[in-house]
Amino acid sequence: MRVSKKAKQFTESVIRDMTRQAIQHDAVNLAQGFPDFSAPEAVKLAAQEAVAANINQYAITWGAQNFRRAIADKFRQGQKIEVDPEREITVCCGSTEAMIATLLALADPGEEVIVFEPFYENYGPDAILSGATPRYVTLHPPADEDGEWSFDTAELRAAFSHNTRAIIINTPHNPSGKVFTRGELEQIRDLCVEFDVLAITDEIYEHILYDGARHISIATIEGMRERTVTINSLSKSYSVTGWRVGWAIAPAELTSAIRKVHDFLTVGAPAPLQAAGVAALTMPGTYYTELAENYALRRDLLLRALREAGFKAYKPGGAYYIMTDISGFASADDREFGGRLVKEIGVAAVPGSSFYSENGGGSQQLRFTFCKQIETLHRAIDNLRKLQQG
Ligand SMILES: Cc1ncc(COP(=O)(O)O)c(C=O)c1O
Repeated sequence: MRVSKKAKQFTESVIRDMTRQAIQHDAVNLAQGFPDFSAPEAVKLAAQEAVAANINQYAITWGAQNFRRAIADKFRQGQKIEVDPEREITVCCGSTEAMIATLLALADPGEEVIVFEPFYENYGPDAILSGATPRYVTLHPPADEDGEWSFDTAELRAAFSHNTRAIIINTPHNPSGKVFTRGELEQIRDLCVEFDVLAITDEIYEHILYDGARHISIATIEGMRERTVTINSLSKSYSVTGWRVGWAIAPAELTSAIRKVHDFLTVGAPAPLQAAGVAALTMPGTYYTELAENYALRRDLLLRALREAGFKAYKPGGAYYIMTDISGFASADDREFGGRLVKEIGVAAVPGSSFYSENGGGSQQLRFTFCKQIETLHRAIDNLRKLQQG
């Protein structure tokens, strides 16, 4: 049977496949980034109450008004940017839909979209589905495990052309844990302005930061407010990845295009969960401090264990993943090693190549997540000890 040329250009998600393999082999799943602990009680209760209060029919297609207001309030508090919830916010089914709706609405076939690699695996297919061509710029790992991943300024400039429509930024970054600095965002701004390019920024890990790192939204950098789409979601900040509620904030003209695409893609995000989203977005500041502190403990625990087991493990400044280099192990490549890890050692991780476009990229890398209960991490760590024995 024939399938579309678009669908032929990418494979099934490797991350979701690793989750299936983890279940099949009864391995500890450190592959997919979803918490195995409870969402905050107040947020769960708000969802139950919304269903009981009959908020069960379609919300306004671009998002319930009170939820959009809560998004605007939180953006103002966090980033000091005033946005109009009536004209500049589209609520979507997770940041996943916000990203694809944005690209479908704003990019045309023949245009290029710059993506830093390694990248969160949806961005390449997102660009392809929108008809645009992804253009990759490498984020280089640091020589020292505790150092920062970085891009080469000349390589970034070389990727921009008058065919470039947008650059996708993800900070804090999955899979590397990089937190983009103001200086780096200003370099990106200079190029966006020079080449008249949009920034589409995925900020879903904005509250998961370590060692005093600060999250900066590129929309706050002078000259970027009018050319930025800021994407975020409830998934990671409130540990509700299954709710599928996210949003895109963009200038009114861009928003009206995003809203049209969103309407025909999904009609709308779940109404009761948008109502509960108001409770989530108005959590006190201490909630976010605790969230980051709890993840810092987990990061340190897994980082130490991975290094002891023989991995070169890069210390993340944000998000909840550890990217590792596996060249210390005598293995053919990331897929072979990832397969052995899930079947024989009992830990699922994600082969590095799924975060790269080219064959060979990431072939000596493996990504582990630590958004799990301490007990889950201990089970994984016990299993990883088998690597030293073997
Ligand atoms: C960088 C990044 N963006 C988007 C997503 C998906 O987010 P959502 O659940 O809001 O669709 C993930 C999930 O792991 C991610 O890591």
